[in-house]
Amino acid sequence: MRSCLTGTFLFERGKRMDKIQQVQEEALQAINGASNLQDLEQLRITYLGKKGSVQALMQEMKSLPKEEKPAFGQKVNVLKQLVTDAFDQKQVELSSGAIHAQLEAEKIDITLSGRKKEIGTIHPLYLVQQELEDLFLGMGYKIAEGPEVELDYYNFELANIPHDHPARDMQDTFYIDPNTLLRTHTTAMQMRELEKAKGQLPIKLICPGKVYRRDDDDATHSHQFMQCEGLVVGEKITLADLKGTLTYMANAMFGEGRTVRFRPSYFPFTEPSVEVDVSCPFCNGKGCSVCKGSGWIEILGAGMVHPHVLEMNGFDPEKCSGFAFGVGLERVAMLKYGIDDIRNFYTNDMRFLKMFNRFD
Ligand code: DAH
Repeated sequence: MRSCLTGTFLFERGKRMDKIQQVQEEALQAINGASNLQDLEQLRITYLGKKGSVQALMQEMKSLPKEEKPAFGQKVNVLKQLVTDAFDQKQVELSSGAIHAQLEAEKIDITLSGRKKEIGTIHPLYLVQQELEDLFLGMGYKIAEGPEVELDYYNFELANIPHDHPARDMQDTFYIDPNTLLRTHTTAMQMRELEKAKGQLPIKLICPGKVYRRDDDDATHSHQFMQCEGLVVGEKITLADLKGTLTYMANAMFGEGRTVRFRPSYFPFTEPSVEVDVSCPFCNGKGCSVCKGSGWIEILGAGMVHPHVLEMNGFDPEKCSGFAFGVGLERVAMLKYGIDDIRNFYTNDMRFLKMFNRFD
């Protein structure tokens, strides 16, 4: 009887152990075979959840004979650990797979060529203006500004060009009303600065800016262009100072080795007045098509500030003197960059402007 009981007992125990083994095999196989995270979660509930197979085996333990509990419990614990490990490992595997799948789906083709951003260029006239400003700032000059819509008083009267003066015909003016006009030359700013100084010395400045004249546009004429005025007033300023300054400027703007030549001229606001030529930078003064064989190129008008202009602005011409000049920026830019038509500066042809792109 005893042996029979023992036999039944052993048989029952064997069955229970087999069941654990069976759950283990089934769980591990299912977990390893899971193809996505949702299925895996379902398997976790089935095997490791509160009502899952592993928990059911734990419950079963309560009804076991005492001596059997430790071995059974240990085996269930091993099962739980194995299933948990398999679950964790599969979860990591499927998650990284999911990330890869997501990355794959959201792929951006970075090999597509981008859109080129158009970068603006610096206008050649502004390049020349900047160069002149740097040059004169380096010599201790100030930079002054003034209005483009100007009073007749500054453009003409203070510049020694009264109403009936024939020199008014030299400059075809855009009038806004009898007293107001578009300035015809940067000399208007020279007059404003002289007046502002109230007789105080010294004065050393340049005034770059746009000017306007009623001209018919062609390759060398434009109704709007740019000038840069220069003015120095102090004690014992002479024509030699003007010549030295302009020679320095010509060398800086057109290359070393330039010389300047003064030709007598006439401007109402200077006495004596000169027109200034620079030795041709293209042929070094030998004569070429640019300088029309003369070896010289005219670049500006200049002179010693007229004593009457000094007087009208509150300076004593016995005690001080000054020189002034007015240079056309188009002329300088045309010579520097080999441009043969002044209209290029204002027609905004992108092919022309892009030639001055210093970023390409
Ligand atoms: N204002 C003159 C013009 O527009 C240029 C000029 C000549 C300016 C002589 C000056 C000067 O300051 O001294 O043609």
